[in-house]
Amino acid sequence: MTPLIAPSLLSADFADLRSDIAMINRSEADWLHLDIMDGVFVPNISFGFPVIKSIAPLCSKPLDVHLMVVQPEKFITRVQEFGAYMMNVHYEACTHLHRTVQQIKDAGMKAGVTLNPHTPVSLLEDIITDVDMVLLMSVNPGFGGQKFIPQTLEKASRLKELILRKNASTLIEIDGGINETTAPMAVKAGVDVLVAGHSVFSAENPEAFIANLKRLS
Ligand code: DX5
Ligand code: ZN
Repeated sequence: MTPLIAPSLLSADFADLRSDIAMINRSEADWLHLDIMDGVFVPNISFGFPVIKSIAPLCSKPLDVHLMVVQPEKFITRVQEFGAYMMNVHYEACTHLHRTVQQIKDAGMKAGVTLNPHTPVSLLEDIITDVDMVLLMSVNPGFGGQKFIPQTLEKASRLKELILRKNASTLIEIDGGINETTAPMAVKAGVDVLVAGHSVFSAENPEAFIANLKRLS
């Protein structure tokens, strides 16, 4: 199956986001992945709403927003205001995940639930039919350019089984260490959407790299 590709802006040139977004627009990328970090949920701070507000009108691809923050439910309206397509919240950051998922959908966005590497997919058993996408972290969240955690592949297969068993239409996205080698393995394990930051933006020709990543799998 041909995967969707969501380049992560985290590895872009922050001094020239306009050019990098123009490249994404021209490319075969399906979505643009935006990583918001708060320095509390993860040990790093990336960029926040003022930056996203400025770049959102420049991007012609749907925005896939990944919130690595505590209490993400506080920001549903802010994320909706800049026209996000998908809002991903971490399982580990939500005490009332069911409520948060419903609130995201009520705000007119698709709801994604993200799992850290240590969080088992079985915890989604009772909510999977309500969730539009599960984002599997294949690195510990907080930084781009880290090494892929291979156990994520088995996790993706188990998640796919759960989705099929529950007759759900949930997509599986994978995030962290995705490159020409790991992308085909992820797709084989049942992944629908590939996030790629470092591999895209460090490529000699990022546009060609995106096209290639789509066809590799
Ligand atoms: C990490 C972020 C990722 C990151 C992936 O916390 O969620 O989206 O940008 O970067 P790469 O593809 O460089 O591993
Ligand atoms: Zn991410």
